[in-house]
Amino acid sequence: MPEQNRKKPGTNNSASANQWTFWKVRHLREVPLNYPRLVCIVGVAHHKRVNLMPASWNSPISFQPPIYGVAIAPERFTFSLLQKAKCFSISFFPWTERERVHLWGSLSGKTTNKLQISGETIQWGKWLPVPLPNHAYLSFECTLIGQHPYGDHWWIVGQIEGARFLQNLTTHREPPFLPNLNNFQPLLYFGRGIYTTFDKKKTIQVARPWNQQQQPTPPEPSPPKTSSAS
Ligand SMILES: Cc1cc2nc3c(=O)[nH]c(=O)nc-3n(C[C@H](O)[C@H](O)[C@H](O)COP(=O)(O)O)c2cc1C
Repeated sequence: MPEQNRKKPGTNNSASANQWTFWKVRHLREVPLNYPRLVCIVGVAHHKRVNLMPASWNSPISFQPPIYGVAIAPERFTFSLLQKAKCFSISFFPWTERERVHLWGSLSGKTTNKLQISGETIQWGKWLPVPLPNHAYLSFECTLIGQHPYGDHWWIVGQIEGARFLQNLTTHREPPFLPNLNNFQPLLYFGRGIYTTFDKKKTIQVARPWNQQQQPTPPEPSPPKTSSAS
């Protein structure tokens, strides 16, 4: 498409509400709607330095063994500390802690003691020498098992050795743990300093009729036909 005909993402000159916009992506910030994301806090300690940094680009990778991944830019102080420590914690915070979390994402541990400045306390890991921040409702203790650069971030991979979580946020004392929705408010991030959480009233379990009735999975839509005329 000629450059002058490119529309801004999200703009739609048509009267139809369901008009798609195709966009050649050069920078991820050009694309709307791929948020919100669950914020995690990466905790690292080496010698006397303890540091915490929020990361919304994070994901589970494997059930067994349990493996977790997080994208960290190499200029972060957390990244350099992690190269020495070889282990880290991944923690999840309630929505009520958004200001503390945002502070940790606005300062660098290179020049600040983030724990001191935010009044956060930690417990040390049971399995690894990693900091577990005490306002978190869930923390994983991870051994660094892999890392690889992709573009301007590194994908950091950790094997989860153990977890610490608040018991009053679960409905059961043993697996399968389900969140107790009455007091569970995970912190989600929209980018640009905007935070949210989910709406309990809109949280439902969807039945799976194809399992019960032995119906086949609906077919995938067919791929676009390539035209030789273009
Ligand atoms: C909510 C939130 C999410 C963030 N997500 C990421 C992320 O996924 N990866 C990353 O490298 N930086 C991310 N950042 C930026 C870092 O947290 C920020 O640069 C921080 O100051 C780095 O701290 P450090 O230098 O002490 O490691 C995020 C910031 C905020 C506020």
